[in-house]
Formats: sequence, C-alpha cells, structure tokens
Amino acid sequence: MATQTFHFTNGSSHLSLSPDHVLPQDQRPNLTQTPLLSSIPVIDLSEQPSALVVDKISKACEEYGFFQIINHGVPRELCDGMLAVVAAFFELPPEEKAPFLATTDRTQQVRLFNYYVKGDGENKVSMWSECFGHLWHPLDQTLHLLPQNPPRYREIIAEYAEEIGVLMKRLLRLISQGLGLHQDCLEKKIGESPMCRAQGNYYPPCPDPELTLGLNVHTDISALTVVRQSEGVTGLQVIKDGHWVAVEPIPDAFVVNVGDQIQVLSNGRYKSVHHRAVTNETRKRVSMATFYTPGKDTVIGPIRDLIDKQHPPLYRDYYFSEFLEEFFKQEGARRMVTEIFELKA
Ligand code: OGA
Ligand code: NI
Repeated sequence: MATQTFHFTNGSSHLSLSPDHVLPQDQRPNLTQTPLLSSIPVIDLSEQPSALVVDKISKACEEYGFFQIINHGVPRELCDGMLAVVAAFFELPPEEKAPFLATTDRTQQVRLFNYYVKGDGENKVSMWSECFGHLWHPLDQTLHLLPQNPPRYREIIAEYAEEIGVLMKRLLRLISQGLGLHQDCLEKKIGESPMCRAQGNYYPPCPDPELTLGLNVHTDISALTVVRQSEGVTGLQVIKDGHWVAVEPIPDAFVVNVGDQIQVLSNGRYKSVHHRAVTNETRKRVSMATFYTPGKDTVIGPIRDLIDKQHPPLYRDYYFSEFLEEFFKQEGARRMVTEIFELKA
C-alpha cells in the first residue's frame, strides 16, 4: 500500500493539490451548497432532572444521529493537551513517523495511514488528511507500542483513555434509558471485551478545498463515537434531511455520534448517519475520534425488547467479526455495510 505522509516545517504546507488528491466531479464536496454553520443538538449533561437529558439525547439519536455535549466532566486541560500531542506527532519529520506506517497487515495495532477512495477505474484518490489509529481500550495491550515522541504522548493518551471510558459508559447508560431499556443494557450487549480504537485525524491547510475531502462520506462501524476537535476550525459535516450541515466547533464540547452497531441494536430507531470532513484553505484542523466497538466474538442484532408486531426485526444477528469482514471488503468504495445484514420484509 502506498502510504504517503505530509511534511511541514513551521506549520506551513509545501503541498499543492496533486492529481492523486483530486476527486471525480461527482464526489467533490460542492461547498457553495453547504450552509455555513448549523446546529446539531447541544446537550448539557449537567442539566437536572436527568430524565430531561435522557429525552434530549434520545431525540437527537433519532433525528440527527449526532449531538454535542457540554459540562461532561472531562477536564478541558487534558483534552487540549491530548490534541496538542496528537498534532505534534503528525508534525514530526517523516522519518520519525515511518515506523508506524501502515502495512497490509490488518492486525497491525498502531497504524499511520491515508484513506483513499476509488476514482474512475482503478486509480486511488487520497484524502487530504493523515490518520493515526491505535487502541485506547484495553490500553495495556497497546501502550508500549505507542510513540515515545512526543515525549508525553503515552502518558496523556492513557489519562485521556481513562476519562473517555467513564464518559462512554455514562453515554451508553443514557442512551439505553432513552430506548426504554435498563441502563446497563447497551453496555452488556456490546459485551465484556470491547475493542476500542482511537483515531487521530490531521487535516493540513488545503490549496483547493473544492476538489478534495479530508474524510470521505462514511458512517462509523462502532457502537458509539466520541470526537474531540480543535477549536475555531470547522470541517465535520453531517447529513440532515438530505443536506450537509457543518458541525460548529463549540469550545470544550465533544461531538457524539451513533455508530452502525447501535443502529442495529436499536432496530433502526437510532441512526448511524453519514458524515464527512471537508478541508480548510488556511488553517489546519486536528480531531481525535474514540470509538466504542464490540469484540469480534460478540453477537450483535436488534435487542429483543425493542421488537414486537409493529417493530419486526430489521437486521439479522451477526458476529461482529462478520461485520468487520464486510467492512474491509468494501474498502475504497462508498460503503454499505449495515445493508448486508438487513432482513428483507
Ligand atoms: C472519524 C470522523 C470526523 C472529524 O474519524 O470517523 O468522522 O471531525 N472524524 O475528524
Ligand atoms: Ni466518522
């Protein structure tokens, strides 16, 4: 796999938009049609009574599949520090990052890579971003494989992972309650050995944002995703009623989204919504996505309590390993993975 990394000195890009970043006409972002800023729901986790928070989250999961949270209890300095070490890692000279470059080995735990889409014919169009993925839970399996430069990378990621673990479980309880289930239901269904990846995304300033994307249109294969993004730069966009809306970078907020597994577990009531990242002409953008994902041996399917005569099951049960296999099979395409597991009426 030809993996290419960007190299920066003094924060300025040496890049121009080479042909291998130019998307075919019909896959370009069409930015003039995107409303500048529009709000996905912003939910204050400290609001009382908590039943109100449950209702708001439930509505957001049904109507948007996305929401932002404030007053979430994760220290702001930790999040700022985390984004700073992630950015510093991406900005290392290529030779220092080379040991992490992705190979074709799917079991590679720590990988630096570029997403691509298949353009016309066999040619691959690279996304205008660099991505760095590794587990955040269970962290003890990975910590010793993480970068030692920046010097505080391991320490800060470990601290961040701890906080995100608490936050994920809290969100899963609120989402379970929103579905009318026992608060522990989703966490139990996702299983005792979740394999949770973190993905740092680095979007350098881009000479021509109209011609390319930072991340292609996709849904997340996780159960739940929590994203921290750098302040002051928009990039993430979400489909709402057939239109792209930009997710406003609210200071000290997390973006939360329903992944494919909660869409299936909720029998389609909560939506795993298509999203993408566009690039910015003058400013870089950094984000850190943390995914909460079942282990390979976990069986996922619509939760029985959500099925009745009016709500027949929309998906068959599957092992998460089957879902992953299908996901890898569709690499480079506009993926349609959950569709494979749909039950036809
Ligand atoms: C992702 C993702 C959005 C962003 O990593 O799956 O959608 O804002 N990231 O970088
Ligand atoms: Ni995503």
